[in-house]
Amino acid sequence: MTEPKPLSSAQTSGPDQEPANGEASGNVAAPVESRRARHDSSHEISTRAAASVLGAPAGVQALVLTGSSKGTSKVVGGRLTIGKAADNDLVITDDTVSRHHCEIIRAPDGLHVRDLDSTNGTKIDGTRIREAMVQPGSVLRVGEVEIQFKPTTQRVEVLPSDKSSFGPAIGQSLAMRTIFGILERIAPTDATVLLEGETGTGKDVLARALSAGSHRSSKPFLIVDCGAVTYSLIESELFGHERGSFTGAVATRQGAFELADGGTVFLDEIGELPLDVQPKLLRVLETREFRRVGGNKTLQTNVRVIAATKRDLQREVAGGKFREDLYFRLAVVPVTVPPLRARRDDIPALVNHILKLAGGNDLAVPPETMQALAAHDWPGNVRELRNVLERAIYMAQATGSKEIGVVTLPTGHAAADAAFHFEPDKSYRETRAKYDAEFEKRYVKWLLGRHTGNISAAAREAKMDRKHLHDMAKKHGLRGNEAEDS
Ligand SMILES: Nc1ncnc2c1ncn2[C@@H]1O[C@H](COP(=O)(O)OP(=O)(O)OP(=O)(O)O)[C@@H](O)[C@H]1O
Ligand SMILES: [Mg+2]
Repeated sequence: MTEPKPLSSAQTSGPDQEPANGEASGNVAAPVESRRARHDSSHEISTRAAASVLGAPAGVQALVLTGSSKGTSKVVGGRLTIGKAADNDLVITDDTVSRHHCEIIRAPDGLHVRDLDSTNGTKIDGTRIREAMVQPGSVLRVGEVEIQFKPTTQRVEVLPSDKSSFGPAIGQSLAMRTIFGILERIAPTDATVLLEGETGTGKDVLARALSAGSHRSSKPFLIVDCGAVTYSLIESELFGHERGSFTGAVATRQGAFELADGGTVFLDEIGELPLDVQPKLLRVLETREFRRVGGNKTLQTNVRVIAATKRDLQREVAGGKFREDLYFRLAVVPVTVPPLRARRDDIPALVNHILKLAGGNDLAVPPETMQALAAHDWPGNVRELRNVLERAIYMAQATGSKEIGVVTLPTGHAAADAAFHFEPDKSYRETRAKYDAEFEKRYVKWLLGRHTGNISAAAREAKMDRKHLHDMAKKHGLRGNEAEDS
């Protein structure tokens, strides 16, 4: 089973505290006893980038960047001694390091470093010091060895939920129960949640369940579909506009952040948000203040934000299509909902759940039908499963059958439909070229498959030139079982 990557554990520290190059080694993470983590008050849930939001305490660790002990790290407690001798807290055996080289004292005002009369000295930013303060992120040079001080990533293992549902969302698989475990704890907080996952995996259901499980449940839950709203209106949709601020703005209008005050704003398809609107969203997330389009009054808003996307937002960030700062603001609690094919043990429970909802409660599901359903790959995920079942219920009812019969599962054709994924910044020509090539490949594969690789027979059936088919097969790495000139 595929486990969703950010979920098995959650970490404190984010862009606010993390120095630019900082990946903490896992062994420095201080495990928090999980039972405590489950029962303590919600603010102690610590997730990636969440420290500032959730108030989780961040420790400091010393990480050796160079020399023979490179990669070693130690959490700085009250005092940390560094040197070559074995009785130091952080032992570094490089030649340029003295036996008792320096010490770090953690005081309420920050980290103090004191050189212990070392031979080669202790330096901060190139300056030799006897005693000084070190800032998180700064690098200390102990002899020739570099040591960086940075906030610890504190791991809090969130255990999978004991329940196989979270609000209306059903799931028995470990992957889903892990998500439920996190969402149960995060729901009552105001933490921003980013839901990632393929189409139909249940991001919408989970967003609603989160809102329903919060103290904002009686307040508005407003959805802004950033992919559906036209470019020119998205800002107005989010922040509202003043009368006359643009052509067509005949009346003043309130946006989602104003209308949802006290409640939740669900930013669906956040990956589609235009780059130039992203800073405006970032501002409202940071300050909880905004202005209507064309307005000059700053308005306050008290909303909880949940965002969802089918895209891999980190990849979008890497590709310059999504702002990194906004990504981190949104991904306070990142949750990746795995595709249904990666959690097949959810299928039987989902089948029963959907049957009940769709009025097929009294219909039996024969084992072979259930097996077929569980074996299918479901490119459209739970939505596709629901569609197939609703059709099957209808068929059973129409024929007076007492069971869900042979379900016609979508073929590769439907899978190909689901695989269409248009990218807004690609031209028609580029998009077409990509899908033409994909079409060609799938077609040739299918055609040759029908004729067990016999190119002549395949070409005859498709009324194509045999050489052309042969070239196409070759181009796509598909092999016909005849030589071209046979
Ligand atoms: N875990 C689940 N339990 C019950 N129903 C589910 C679950 N996941 C999805 N569904 C159902 O499947 C359908 C699709 O789910 P949903 O709309 O939440 O998907 P989505 O991830 O938002 O998809 P998209 O990216 O296309 O918007 C809905 O009818 C929803 O009720
Ligand atoms: Mg959705």
